[in-house]
Amino acid sequence: MQILVTGGLGYIGSHTSVLLLEKGYDIVVVDDLSNSNIEVLDNIFKITSKKPAFEKIDLKDKKAVSKLFQDYTFDGIIHFAAHKSVNESVNYPEKYFSNNVGSLENIIDEIKLLENPINFIFSSSCTVYGQADLMPIDESFPLKEAESPYGQSKRQCEEVLKSLHDSGHSFKNITLRYFNPIGAHPSALIGELPLGIPENLVPYITQTAIGKRECLTVFGNDYETADGTCVRDYIHIMDLAEVHITCLEKLISSNDDSLFKVYNVGTGKGTSVLELIHIFENVNDIKLNYKIGERRKGDVVTAYADTSKIKEELNWSTKNSLKNALKSAWNWELNLNKDE
Ligand code: UD1
Repeated sequence: MQILVTGGLGYIGSHTSVLLLEKGYDIVVVDDLSNSNIEVLDNIFKITSKKPAFEKIDLKDKKAVSKLFQDYTFDGIIHFAAHKSVNESVNYPEKYFSNNVGSLENIIDEIKLLENPINFIFSSSCTVYGQADLMPIDESFPLKEAESPYGQSKRQCEEVLKSLHDSGHSFKNITLRYFNPIGAHPSALIGELPLGIPENLVPYITQTAIGKRECLTVFGNDYETADGTCVRDYIHIMDLAEVHITCLEKLISSNDDSLFKVYNVGTGKGTSVLELIHIFENVNDIKLNYKIGERRKGDVVTAYADTSKIKEELNWSTKNSLKNALKSAWNWELNLNKDE
């Protein structure tokens, strides 16, 4: 079985690539290296002793995408490649629509030419729910106007996939709405590699703990939550990687040529920013320098998943603890800085 992994050198893509190789799949990693590093390929090799095929392709380039589909035959596609900075998307919305939606459209044009229904997994985000009215969030909740062009681009991608399904074209699709992925591979050879100043909480925490950043700012402590800070559903990256294997197996084994499913991927448990900081401090025996600051524009107050659909239908749930995730995130940061 040969699987195309777009964005396969990125944070979620690299961890999933490792598991795919370990499960015996052949993979073709496509990445434009715009927010990833070619060294990740060597580290995937160090972990798995397997070197995947690699193509440096910008998926906005229609000709390059056509050539990719001429050069290889794919049994499945996992489409991670996307820009993901909320801040940047506010300043450069066009970049987000042309890249995130445009790339998907180019892939879909190729899918339409295939004889057999392709197995397709799409990376979406809980951002499509906006601030949900109730918790936990299940998949039937309405999709709200996104707070950012990034969120809007994910929503549009979901709509593009739904249109393809509704048009009657045979393809098997699972869309995964990720909650907040954190942590790193247990080897500490791959993990999250933020460019510049991290926007996300856990990389900011680890960079503060190692001394790259002076102080973490907690964005607001006057929300209507137990301790006043925002609540999220933090999922270990290894659990998140694993769910792609489960979904791929489901798609491959299904006889339904127009299977179309959407699943939340989270732990089902909400954790506040302060709780997360304290767990990080405890498990790693570190005192973190942090202060309370202003709210960040566009943040939802609370978001955690109702995970019953994926549990019932795919018998899948998370295995790793938050403690474990925060330990692995710290080990990764230590490993990144060991030569400095
Ligand atoms: C963000 C994106 C979301 C995207 C996800 C990808 C926003 C509004 N949303 O989610 O669309 O899918 O990343 O991982 O950016 N925090 C601090 N201090 C910091 C950084 C974060 O207090 O320096 C807080 C935030 O206010 C939030 C929590 O930590 O309450 C998590 O933030 P973050 O890691 O950026 O994730 P999300 O905002 O949930």
